[in-house]
Amino acid sequence: MKKGLLITFEGPDGSGKTTQISLLRQYLSSKGLEVIYTREPGGTNISEKIRDIILDNKNSEMSDMCEALLYASSRAQLVHEVIKPALLDGKIVVMDRFVESSIVYQGIGRNLGVDKIRSINEAATEGLKPDITFMLTIPFEEGLERKSKQKVLDRLENGGDDFHRRVYDGYMSLLDSADFIKVVDANRAVENIHKDIVNIIEEMLK
Ligand code: TYD
Repeated sequence: MKKGLLITFEGPDGSGKTTQISLLRQYLSSKGLEVIYTREPGGTNISEKIRDIILDNKNSEMSDMCEALLYASSRAQLVHEVIKPALLDGKIVVMDRFVESSIVYQGIGRNLGVDKIRSINEAATEGLKPDITFMLTIPFEEGLERKSKQKVLDRLENGGDDFHRRVYDGYMSLLDSADFIKVVDANRAVENIHKDIVNIIEEMLK
């Protein structure tokens, strides 16, 4: 029986997930809570190797289904090796991206279909669902602008304007799709976004 808490962060490129995750981790640790942090794709030796294959710009011939299955493989290993044991142990797991990223990037962005990607990921995660997903929203142009300040872009980030527009619209279409998804307006000061996130988590920890 799961005893811990699975918190995931999702959002379009440039929505500020990384900053908010690091603030939340500091907050939870300052409360004396044990927090495990992982990123996707990656988080185990095997999953990091799969990450390198997925994001390598040289792998331009990769089929969309191969990409979707590699994300799911990386996730399956992470769930098996890190997430499930930590949750069974009563720990809080904070994740940068999870299944909803595949729904949006592969299901909608790559046009593979949401149902197909859901079923692949049901198998990969053995049906594990987040307790809460913070969905950070920003206007499309704002996200692009923030992301364009980055130096080196990986294979997914180099996916082209149409792909990024579909990914963005995909995220918008998920906003009310599950009760574990909490939408957070990320087009505000970092501290205000953090406060909202902390308030929601405090409610859950009560
Ligand atoms: P990463 O460097 O972690 O991106 P970011 O800092 O933007 O979160 O690279 C992950 C890339 O992989 C990112 O462009 C989103 C994409 N992705 C998918 O396409 N499907 C998935 O299931 C996941 C987890 C990520």
